[in-house]
Amino acid sequence: MKYLYFPTLSSTNDYLKEHYLDLDYPTYCVTYNQTKGRGRTGHSWEASPNLNLALSVLFKVDDIKENITLKAAIAVTKALKNIIDLAYNIKWPNDILIGNKKICGILTEGITTKDAIYLIIGIGVNINQINFSKDIDDKTTSLKKETGKEYLIKDIEDEIINKLNFIINHYNDQLDVDFIKKHLYGMNKEISYHQGQEIKKGRIIDLKTNGELVIETENDIKNIRTGEITIIR
Ligand code: BTN
Repeated sequence: MKYLYFPTLSSTNDYLKEHYLDLDYPTYCVTYNQTKGRGRTGHSWEASPNLNLALSVLFKVDDIKENITLKAAIAVTKALKNIIDLAYNIKWPNDILIGNKKICGILTEGITTKDAIYLIIGIGVNINQINFSKDIDDKTTSLKKETGKEYLIKDIEDEIINKLNFIINHYNDQLDVDFIKKHLYGMNKEISYHQGQEIKKGRIIDLKTNGELVIETENDIKNIRTGEITIIR
């Protein structure tokens, strides 16, 4: 395993994307001052200097398993629980919340060449930041925002790396569906979800080992692979 720490870096995912051919597998890339963090669907990932963790890991796989982001969410949830036991919820498919506020976002990216498949899992955890920009402040939290205490970023990083190593070494294992269902944001609740341009309504009733979410709609049961979930009630 290789470990790279940068005092400042534009994006840990971008660094690994640029250097994936020249690195060991796995390589962890870490900064506490990420200046151009990327989120899903072209969004940016906000983090004030030296208050939060940005960590990405690069590794090689034989095939892409869609459930890997949920496995990473399990790894981060368990790591955070070891630091402080709060009411963590996994928001399918790639966020961790405390209550209904986001503390962690995960961005998984794959690179397929003719010789191999590389995966990059990028994880941002809000740790000591208490003020976020106006448009996200009320839906965002951090360990410090929740508890009023400061945390050593390195302690959280070590726990996360430890748990991520396990999921990388067990890439072919079944997804721990029970763990996710216990922590699943919106489980058994009425939700709305995007499908293409449409917004549909339904109730989350189950999760499959491949990571698909099972939604009961008015006249159907649907398995969905990607999307954005909002709780209606
Ligand atoms: C999201 O919530 O949309 C995903 C956010 C992912 C942010 C992390 S921070 C470390 C890694 N580097 C990036 O540029 N993004 C991910």
